[in-house]
Amino acid sequence: MKVIKKSEQVQNIIKKLKQQKKSIGFVPTMGALHQGHISLIRRARKENDIVAVSIFVNPAQFGPNEDLKKYPRPFEKDVGICKSEGVDVIFAPSPKEMYPENYLTYITVEKLSDIMCGKFRHGHFRGVATIVAKLFNIVQPDRAYFGLKDFQQSVIVKKMVTDLNFPVKIISSPIVREKDGLALSSRNVYLSFTERKNALSLSRSLQTAKNLIKYKNIKSAEKIISEMRKIISPKVDKIDYIDIHDAETLEEIKYIKKKVVIAVAVIVGKTRLIDNIIVKR
Ligand code: PAJ
Repeated sequence: MKVIKKSEQVQNIIKKLKQQKKSIGFVPTMGALHQGHISLIRRARKENDIVAVSIFVNPAQFGPNEDLKKYPRPFEKDVGICKSEGVDVIFAPSPKEMYPENYLTYITVEKLSDIMCGKFRHGHFRGVATIVAKLFNIVQPDRAYFGLKDFQQSVIVKKMVTDLNFPVKIISSPIVREKDGLALSSRNVYLSFTERKNALSLSRSLQTAKNLIKYKNIKSAEKIISEMRKIISPKVDKIDYIDIHDAETLEEIKYIKKKVVIAVAVIVGKTRLIDNIIVKR
């Protein structure tokens, strides 16, 4: 396994691999790898000749009052995980390598970036789209793997790839959860014992919403959201949103007809947590 810090070096290696007709699977991450990331790496390992993982805490997707500085960076541990999962190349650039002093170019996927998390994290998805585009140009993957934990992110990346003709297939993979339902996240390490218990209200409310739709035939988004709010509200410090959107277009919907994504974002203590579930009627 190679650990590379320079874009040009990755590009040279990839060029050679492409000449040998090797397929490249790519898993972009910000490190602090957990079973959620590992599920993507395993899938990439199964479906490609070469697996590349990027580890880069991308400053462009953090707001001024967010956790860029304290975001966990257990780099050696991550390298060990990648090694044991059979990763071929880790790309771990410095912020300067990705955004040199005179950096000026950003990508915005309009509309989709302004709703849900975008309403509360201005510029977040601009930062995500920009780094993902850069990483795609460096790694040139045939397939890139994204987790449905960040549902909106995966929709935005797919839209960018379509609109800008990137020759890569985006593959979305299911959310990996702890046994008690908590969606795995690198940010879960911030949670105290009590906060972690309270954070379970997210997955619980999503399961309740699913049951209301599937078994109680409730179609009104407003009614479902209000039931979810009852579960979450006493357990968290702030609810950013509880939203129901069309799972394909991300259009907000009033009545559940087709496949929808029910998504929540909250603050527990000082930690922002997101979760979602896809429900078909
Ligand atoms: P990060 O939060 O490290 O996540 C990397 C990938 O792992 C994302 O596709 C995310 O959806 C997926 N993932 C995280 N938790 C998961 C879980 N519990 N189950 C399944 N997949 C999970 O998302 C980012 O980094 C960044 O925005 C990035 C795309 C790397 C751009 O900087």
